[in-house]
Amino acid sequence: MPAERPRVFVAREIPAAGLDRILATCDADVWREDLPPPRDELLARAAGCQGILSLLTETIDAELMDAAGDALRVVSNYAVGFNNIDIQEATRRGIRVGNTPGVLTDATADMAVTLLLAVGRRLVEANRFVMGGQWQTWQPLGHIGVDLVDKTAGIVGLGRIGSTVARRLRGGWNMRILYFDQYRNEAAEQELGAEQVEFEALLDQADFVSVHLNLDDSTSGLFDAAAFRRMKNTAVFVNTARGPLHVQRDLAEALRRGEIFAAGLDVTDPEPLPPGDPLLELPNCIVVPHIASATVQSRNGMAEIAADNLLAGLRGEPLCCWVNPEVEQSTA
Ligand code: DGY
Repeated sequence: MPAERPRVFVAREIPAAGLDRILATCDADVWREDLPPPRDELLARAAGCQGILSLLTETIDAELMDAAGDALRVVSNYAVGFNNIDIQEATRRGIRVGNTPGVLTDATADMAVTLLLAVGRRLVEANRFVMGGQWQTWQPLGHIGVDLVDKTAGIVGLGRIGSTVARRLRGGWNMRILYFDQYRNEAAEQELGAEQVEFEALLDQADFVSVHLNLDDSTSGLFDAAAFRRMKNTAVFVNTARGPLHVQRDLAEALRRGEIFAAGLDVTDPEPLPPGDPLLELPNCIVVPHIASATVQSRNGMAEIAADNLLAGLRGEPLCCWVNPEVEQSTA
């Protein structure tokens, strides 16, 4: 008798680089709609599954784990961030959780720099000006943006992605690199001359602030009215990490009042932005729909790792990118 194929729920169609391997070895229920499964559908489909491949749009909490039942062994998140998953609860239940770091570092860093350039040089605003038929002549005082060469970058979270952004800014524009992080990054200090500073000192000095923190209770709302007020009124703020790291109404207000020059957001709170959100009215803000990892290599790499994690977890093996390796001790 052939061995029974493990039951898994895959919360969206992901690139074939990973999906094909899952389909080849599992009894896989793949949600093929563009929009995420509604909560009741997710709970129903998770029932009896040994593995779940989730996206950042799926909340994987105790309720979901209860709905899945005792069979659930692994949750493989198709993302490097895992704030959508109750890790403590998963660990308590011996459920392995995996994520997809590394493969999206360059693409995400590129997006941070793209947003900096785009809002710093008022690209979208200027393009709308042309498309709207307002371009009548060359204007000595029109569409003036910010300079980049020799400026100061403030990197909040100098991990993989943050230090890749720093490397681009140092190498491309000779920026001075300040960073705020709970950990010291000696490699970046040596390579880029990065200087670790307090959060407030970074806000005071940076011409460009880029956020690369995990979202958790200690970082949620870090960029609030006081933080934006503290920044230079010529500063550019970029968030490619998670929307709730900034308090969105405070950001909109700071942009409206000119407390900061501009913002480039790959992530918002909530996602998607509801129609009529104040950010959408502001000429000095660009919002893109959480696409920093949207390149062929990144998304294929994420699919491969997510499949590896899922299949390893189903076999009861260590995950290649394991968020809660302490599960091994608790189940050993
Ligand atoms: C992640 O991986 O956490 C991104 O936000 C989506 O690629």
